[in-house]
Amino acid sequence: MDNNLPTSIIIFGASGDLTQRKLIPSLFNLCRKGRMPNKFRIVGYGTTEYSADAFRAHLKEGVQHFASFEFKEDEWANFAPLLFYIQGKYDAPNFEKLDAEVSRWEDGPGNRIFYMATPPSVFPSIIDLLAHTKQLAEREDWRRVVIEKPFGTDLASAKQLNQQIHKALQEDQIYRIDHYLGKETVQNILVTRFSNTILEPLWNRNYIDHVEISVAEEVGVEHRGQFYDGVGVMRDMFQNHLLQLLSLVAMEPPASFAASALRNEKVKVLSSIRPMNAEAIAKNAVRAQYKGYLREAGVNPESKTPTFAAVKVQIDNWRWQGVPFYLRSGKALKKKLSQIIIEFKKPPLMLFNSTSDNLTPNMLVLFLQPDEGIHLRFEAKVPDTISETRSVDMEFKYAESFGKTAIPEAYERLLLDTITGDASLFTRADEVETAWGLIDPILDAWKGTTQPLDTYETGSWGPAKADALLARDGRIWSMWDGGKE
Ligand code: BG6
Repeated sequence: MDNNLPTSIIIFGASGDLTQRKLIPSLFNLCRKGRMPNKFRIVGYGTTEYSADAFRAHLKEGVQHFASFEFKEDEWANFAPLLFYIQGKYDAPNFEKLDAEVSRWEDGPGNRIFYMATPPSVFPSIIDLLAHTKQLAEREDWRRVVIEKPFGTDLASAKQLNQQIHKALQEDQIYRIDHYLGKETVQNILVTRFSNTILEPLWNRNYIDHVEISVAEEVGVEHRGQFYDGVGVMRDMFQNHLLQLLSLVAMEPPASFAASALRNEKVKVLSSIRPMNAEAIAKNAVRAQYKGYLREAGVNPESKTPTFAAVKVQIDNWRWQGVPFYLRSGKALKKKLSQIIIEFKKPPLMLFNSTSDNLTPNMLVLFLQPDEGIHLRFEAKVPDTISETRSVDMEFKYAESFGKTAIPEAYERLLLDTITGDASLFTRADEVETAWGLIDPILDAWKGTTQPLDTYETGSWGPAKADALLARDGRIWSMWDGGKE
């Protein structure tokens, strides 16, 4: 495989939000940093009508609006001529036209990335058309396909989609995106665990009491009501982002950071999660909908779609037996905040002027967003007291250590990895299917339940039942919003 060959990045569904908000700002930034291949072009493809100039103007607006770096006209002037647009239907004659245009520019062998930024229902037919028009065959050049989430809507549909795309593609040509894996702070979970000797010896059932993974969003469903209503929080956040976070926290050290070694370990953890029957789900999974959801545009006024969920998960392996992982995520909550809290066990014996009940256990808090960083909370003696203790924090903040602009957009890393052919941060077929295997029973149980759906106030931290889930185990959510909840 030769990365010096001309490289085309072909984006299907290019007139949509994702291209304007994420893909083009990320590709532009990679270009500014000199990380793109020597010779490349970006070709948008879609049914919407655009001239090349109108397409470029639309994308420029996106960069000015959404990019986290300073916009400079001269840099854009170098990048814009590399952007093209082809208007066409999703049918064979138009795909032949696409192939002819890209081939003409390549003028010989050329690498191609096909990015599916369309609604998921169109993925299989695009891949079929690419295969039919012979655009997926690799010679000395490579062909890679990037597939956005959601990858299926349940286990059966994910399996079917995998089968369909495997007819035309080898697994190593497929890059299934979970943008959480592109986040610096998420990648840093593995670096924190496996580059530091002080943590890993404690990272197990002997020292850890429980783990909390919270991904809270302040926004509601915004303009995505219709899509979201057919999906809900389990498919939108748990099947992918939350289970990915859990697997990074819980996996064994991989033999190497090669894609296959890393993904093997992630699949092993997911496969060790204890399956739950309907009775266990009723006990360990909470669902709720924010008040006002039913009035959102595109939402069925009688919808039972949950916008919040909390689930207690048990991992049946040597490292984690008996250590609960509490996962929660929701929309329209108090604040956008994604955190992983590792709560350690309390000391076995109280020697100081505290009782074990009021002593705060040590906690390692991974702040994924915002205010990215890591805090270690431990006990210290309050000065000028005999033996009073108080919790204090040791803090690492990305912005302080690496500068405010150090954290790139998640898509930047993922696009670069696609170009260089590193699939470590993408989900493999068996990983996606194993994750669906865990989510399906919960969705089924909720579909069949006679229990009414709980609601929660917009701007709260979710329904009371989520607190009760932990209270039953003698615990509380410790999410940090500048202190205890
Ligand atoms: C997406 C979900 O995958 O992740 C959205 O579809 C959600 O509903 C988004 O808002 C959250 O991503 P982030 O990067 O803002 O935490």
